[in-house]
Amino acid sequence: MMKELDYWVLRLIEFFIICLFILSGPTSADEGSFVSIACCAESDYKDSRNINWISDFNQFPNNRGCHTSVKAVVNNSGYNRTRVFYQGSGQRRCYKLSTTKGEDYLIRGTFLFGPLWGSHFNFSVSVGVTPIGVVDSSEDSVVVEGILRATEDLTYFCLVNGKGGAPYISELELRPLHGLKKYLQDFPSSVLKLVARVKYATSKEEIRYPNDTSDRIWTSNSSDLGSGTSLITTNVFISGNASVSVRVLQTALVASDQLVILHNGLSTTSYQYLMFLYLYEVNQTVQPGQRVFDIYLNNELKQSRFDVSGNGSNYKELAFTVTANGFLNLTLVKAPGSENGPLCNAYEILQVLPWVQETNQSDVKVILEVKNELLKNNPQNEVWEGWSGDPCLPVPWDGITCAAIDGYLVITKLDLSSGISRGSDQSSILKGPVPSSITKLTYLIALNLSHNGFTGDIPAFLPSSLLISVDLSSNDLSGSIPVSLISLPHLETLYLGCNPHVAKKIPSGFNGSKFTTDHGSCSVLESSKRRIIIGAAASGSVLLTIIAGIIFCIWRQKFLPQGKFDAKIHHPMAKNLIFSLPSMDDLVLKSISIETFTLEYIEAATQRYKTLIGEGGFGSVYRGTLIDGQEVAVKVRSATSTQGTREFENELNLLSAIRHENLVPLLGYCCENDQEILVYPFMSNGSLQDRLYGEAAKRKILDWPTRLSIALGAARGLTHLHTFAGRCIIHRDVKSSNILLDHSMSAKVADFGFSKYAPQEGDSCASLEVRGTAGYLDPEYYMTHHLSAKSDVFSFGVVLLEIVSGREPLNIHRPRPEWSLVEWAKSYVRESKIDEIVDPNIKGAYHAEAMWRVVEVAVSCIEPFAASRPNMVEIVRELEDALIIENNASEYMRSIESFGSNRFSVVMERRIPSPSSSEPSPILSQMAPPEPR
Ligand SMILES: *[C@@H]1O[C@H](CO)[C@@H](O)[C@H](O)[C@H]1NC(C)=O
Ligand SMILES: *[C@@H]1O[C@H](CO)[C@@H](O)[C@H](O)[C@H]1NC(C)=O
Ligand SMILES: *[C@@H]1O[C@H](CO)[C@@H](O)[C@H](O)[C@H]1NC(C)=O
Ligand SMILES: *[C@@H]1O[C@H](CO)[C@@H](O)[C@H](O)[C@H]1NC(C)=O
Ligand SMILES: *[C@@H]1O[C@H](CO)[C@@H](O)[C@H](O)[C@H]1NC(C)=O
Ligand SMILES: *[C@@H]1O[C@H](CO)[C@@H](O)[C@H](O)[C@H]1NC(C)=O
Repeated sequence: MMKELDYWVLRLIEFFIICLFILSGPTSADEGSFVSIACCAESDYKDSRNINWISDFNQFPNNRGCHTSVKAVVNNSGYNRTRVFYQGSGQRRCYKLSTTKGEDYLIRGTFLFGPLWGSHFNFSVSVGVTPIGVVDSSEDSVVVEGILRATEDLTYFCLVNGKGGAPYISELELRPLHGLKKYLQDFPSSVLKLVARVKYATSKEEIRYPNDTSDRIWTSNSSDLGSGTSLITTNVFISGNASVSVRVLQTALVASDQLVILHNGLSTTSYQYLMFLYLYEVNQTVQPGQRVFDIYLNNELKQSRFDVSGNGSNYKELAFTVTANGFLNLTLVKAPGSENGPLCNAYEILQVLPWVQETNQSDVKVILEVKNELLKNNPQNEVWEGWSGDPCLPVPWDGITCAAIDGYLVITKLDLSSGISRGSDQSSILKGPVPSSITKLTYLIALNLSHNGFTGDIPAFLPSSLLISVDLSSNDLSGSIPVSLISLPHLETLYLGCNPHVAKKIPSGFNGSKFTTDHGSCSVLESSKRRIIIGAAASGSVLLTIIAGIIFCIWRQKFLPQGKFDAKIHHPMAKNLIFSLPSMDDLVLKSISIETFTLEYIEAATQRYKTLIGEGGFGSVYRGTLIDGQEVAVKVRSATSTQGTREFENELNLLSAIRHENLVPLLGYCCENDQEILVYPFMSNGSLQDRLYGEAAKRKILDWPTRLSIALGAARGLTHLHTFAGRCIIHRDVKSSNILLDHSMSAKVADFGFSKYAPQEGDSCASLEVRGTAGYLDPEYYMTHHLSAKSDVFSFGVVLLEIVSGREPLNIHRPRPEWSLVEWAKSYVRESKIDEIVDPNIKGAYHAEAMWRVVEVAVSCIEPFAASRPNMVEIVRELEDALIIENNASEYMRSIESFGSNRFSVVMERRIPSPSSSEPSPILSQMAPPEPR
């Protein structure tokens, strides 16, 4: 009885849901059906238009290539982000979008900050395998849009790399075009690439959702008013239906005689173009027959004596197709006898691109199953990142060979040997059972799974299989050889050697003359080859162990006699360092202990996080006071930060190991209840950025000698990092907001969240993610993905230019040639016009020779090639010289002019420290919020 009731209740609910669907109707597009992907966003969010943006971390889980700092560019406040894909040429990365087969969609990618990557390249964008646009990295913001009818329940949006580039993307939007079937009506199997969507308006503005229910973006174009034309704006009262918002129709361009819409720069090969015109009679006194004109498209008369107000409606939509190359010329000519000239409110131009046939969908489904099965047991394998989009187009996935059969592309070979031939890298070998879906690849003729760690039974094959060659050797398979495999009709070769646990018995049905099986033992050639490899590997690792041991002993001898290490390693705090890696690095790290705080203590110290002093990608920074009265900055990882944990551990590890008077020290941390908190001394003078051009700069100008000593301090801090423990630590985010100033204006480098040990011989550099902040990013590092200390040098060069000029590294609110500090400054330095780049606030208050030295160092730091840049030790030497010159000059000036003010007092107090002064200073009193972003 109960069950039955439940059943009817369910049916009733179902009914209501169906009714709701019918009521809401297919034409009412709601933002609920929008898919909006914010690339690299730390969390999902709702924007001001009430559209839900989802992060793409579910599709690209690692944050390698996330340029989160890019947000600083837009007003230092926006949250625009870009994901960059580092990959070889011809490779691509695809976003998966859920679509309903047969539905029409608008798909739009936004590509921001191209010029900030420091080099120019192009990459192409495709829907499925149909290219719909090219992104040129010399443009600041590129939008690529296409309209398509989904052919599957999944649609791929792909970035395909050209030569020497790294494709990037910021946003991806998918909008169902309910009720706008007109676009694909005549081209159901094409993709329409948007060329222009223009409405005439008196001011520059964009119309999109919610005014346009499908979130088409209408841009205004008020500039090209030819002679005899004018813009007329009115209230819109349409007698009839419009597929565009009334806001789009409010203004019309009206010509006295003829109206020309010209689009140049189209593809030089012939394509079909689809053009839509939106025409509304804006002059209410105009009667039917009083505004009549002829319409020509590329000199072809498309419509003669067209009447805007004819047929009882004052609104018309027109669609034309034309085959064109190079340009489109739409001309509306006033017809003889018409009282008024032609008019146009808005238009759209779409290029018709044939839909490129994809790979046989059943093969696509199967290979995705294979991928998913492999992924379960091998989640770390890097190859999966490239296994997205169409498996055969434009280039096949790693390990896959395709061929065209029956008008489709099909998968004919699958080679996953040694984890897809990734050299000797043992971590890439595949484990777990052989994916059983492999047997469902209908067109497969060669299968190679050798030299992996596959376990379990050999799957059963289908008799319809076309397999000719199967290699399962050198795995750890078990069980018996399936009859289905032995009796495959086309099978010629079968390798099963080096699978010690596979039953030796060959099943009946085996036709000896047909196969070359080396079942039971490895073939002679193979086994000797294997042995050599194993032997070499084994002796290699022994050698490594010995070297490591020697280094460790030397290291212990060097540090132990001072009793420094011994005392600390038994410190009770050491066991609190839960970030364990039994490596040498860690032993070094644990040698300096830091305090652990309880959450309760932190809450008390910050008065329950009362004073917020900064916010970053990591979380928030609060001000607090410890029991002993010391003021601290408390950095709390936010719950929504997806990138924080690793940075937290990284910063904790590095900071607890390193002490230097020009590096921010860590006082302690708290790691309780999933809270990750770092505690630093508070820095009363904020960051160099604040002092140069932030709020603080307005209150008090930083004089030149102080700037110079700050530069020197920061350079010394970086030198310490670069030479730390005989191994170089690269900061990776050197910038003026990460150089903090204590009460005596002494510089301290902060924010080690991104720091890394420099790659050593044999480390795989390519796996390092590119990090840094736009404006400071080393172009060579960005392009080659190769990390070195010289990347910090580049960023430090930018900081030096900031110090000299008092300008931010990037400011898109300045005139275009001045956006990039580096480019702007270089152009003046080339002409030796240094005065032009010096901060007007310090004009006349510096020694020219000292200034020249600093500018010269700065310019050598920002050399495009890392090899031409100096190292930090050389930079420190140059800056010391500059400071000595400046101080001598100032002292001289002071003696002759006897300044009443304390203009140079800060500098005068300062000793000229020797380069070797890297002793940790006893107590560092104050500290600023690390990197308020
Ligand atoms: C940038 O800053 C200016 C002035 O502070 C402000 O008017 C503008 O709205 C800001 N823009 C963004 C995108 O935050
Ligand atoms: C960049 O971020 C700002 C602030 O969040 C936002 O107003 C702007 O629309 C974004 N720009 C783009 C192109 O997404
Ligand atoms: C990128 O494409 C544009 C045309 O779209 C072309 O002018 C430019 O030379 C290309 N740049 C590179 C680096 O290939
Ligand atoms: C259209 O845009 C205007 C101005 O931005 C706004 O006031 C109005 O609410 C919008 N209308 C709709 C239907 O969204
Ligand atoms: C509207 O049309 C009438 C009659 O054709 C004309 O006299 C008048 O100038 C037009 N108004 C505008 C603003 O063009
Ligand atoms: C555009 O087409 C019109 C009418 O066919 C013609 O008179 C005009 O010269 C064309 N303009 C250009 C720039 O091709």
